[in-house]
Amino acid sequence: MRAIHVGLLGLGTVGSGVIKIIEDHQDNLMHQVGCPIKVKKILVQDTEKHRQIYVDKALLTTDVNEVIQDPEIDVVIEVMGGVEETRIHLLNALKAKKHIVTANKDLMAVYGSELLSVATENGCDLFYEASVAGGIPILRSLVDGLASDRITKMMGIVNGTTNFILTKMSKYGSAYKEVLKEAQDLGYAEADPTADVEGLDAARKMAILARLGFSMNVDLEDVNVKGISQVTDDDISYSKRLGYTMKLIGIAQSEHGKVEVSVEPTLLPDYHPLASVNNEYNAVYVYGEAVGETMFYGPGAGSLPTATAVVSDLVAVMKNMRLEVNGRSAFAPQYEKQLKSAQD
Ligand code: NDP
Ligand code: HSE
Repeated sequence: MRAIHVGLLGLGTVGSGVIKIIEDHQDNLMHQVGCPIKVKKILVQDTEKHRQIYVDKALLTTDVNEVIQDPEIDVVIEVMGGVEETRIHLLNALKAKKHIVTANKDLMAVYGSELLSVATENGCDLFYEASVAGGIPILRSLVDGLASDRITKMMGIVNGTTNFILTKMSKYGSAYKEVLKEAQDLGYAEADPTADVEGLDAARKMAILARLGFSMNVDLEDVNVKGISQVTDDDISYSKRLGYTMKLIGIAQSEHGKVEVSVEPTLLPDYHPLASVNNEYNAVYVYGEAVGETMFYGPGAGSLPTATAVVSDLVAVMKNMRLEVNGRSAFAPQYEKQLKSAQD
């Protein structure tokens, strides 16, 4: 039985989790997909660096072509981050007929349409479940579980780092800078945490959700964004005294063909379900015309939760390969409606 060969781009917080899940769950994975999974090559920046997980050093390379041009590699998992260089790597990988799994919301928010169409042209799958809300299978739920409904609104907490910071500031009076450092040490924050604290990471995720939920292309420039870097200890303690909890809330709503997307710190009454979503956890409400209100909740960042989503995408690719379903370009809107700006 031929193993599925995987090439990994990146072996940091998420990449280490991917290796661990593939190793620890090999029996379960094999049971689901009918063949073993073998990680054949891993792109890193520094092959000599001390790693969070043991890997045979012979697997490491600094030459991306050893991963994406290897004829034996079936699937490329991208967990290195970055946008421009990574876009080129993934376009080249797709042209080399590799299926792609990525956790990269920065990339998918900006170049998602291009990558999805190149994937289709080349008969490849492109899955990116981990890019929004870490371990919560929210993209699958939008594209498959709620496919029959007309989604009108999505609202929630989609950044783990800022939720961790706001939780610790509110519950323990911790200092902003110290908790940010803690979130970085725990692997929740982006390489440059500016994207987290200024709301950009949440904006990218809301743009991806809006695109899939409403089948409309939403540009990041159209998202109104405000982060938490200006939130003070006083803001938090006053709001607490008044019975409110501060959360960074993303909202995407569609009405009469117009879409509005925003991210901003919001005061929620303490009894609101989102007010009790703490630490790195995320939660997203999805409102559908037929289903009404649904809520998705779970860990939004961190090594293993995120890697769970990545490896589940790998399983989906492998099932498609086994069924010879190619070019599905999963998590793409079926068609894109013409976007009317909210100002029209
Ligand atoms: P890390 O910084 O922990 O790891 C990045 C890895 O990629 C490292 O192994 C690094 O190599 C390698 N790398 C980075 N740039 C290059 C490059 N130019 N060439 C070769 N190798 C490179 O990041 P994370 O694991 O935290 O995040 C990875 C991706 O997953 C990002 O897109 C992030 O947004 C996304 N994500 C992260 C989540 C999290 O909780 N951390 C959750 C959901 C998504 P080296 O080790 O040698 O430095
Ligand atoms: N930095 C991101 C967050 C990682 O804190 O939510 C998960 O996408």
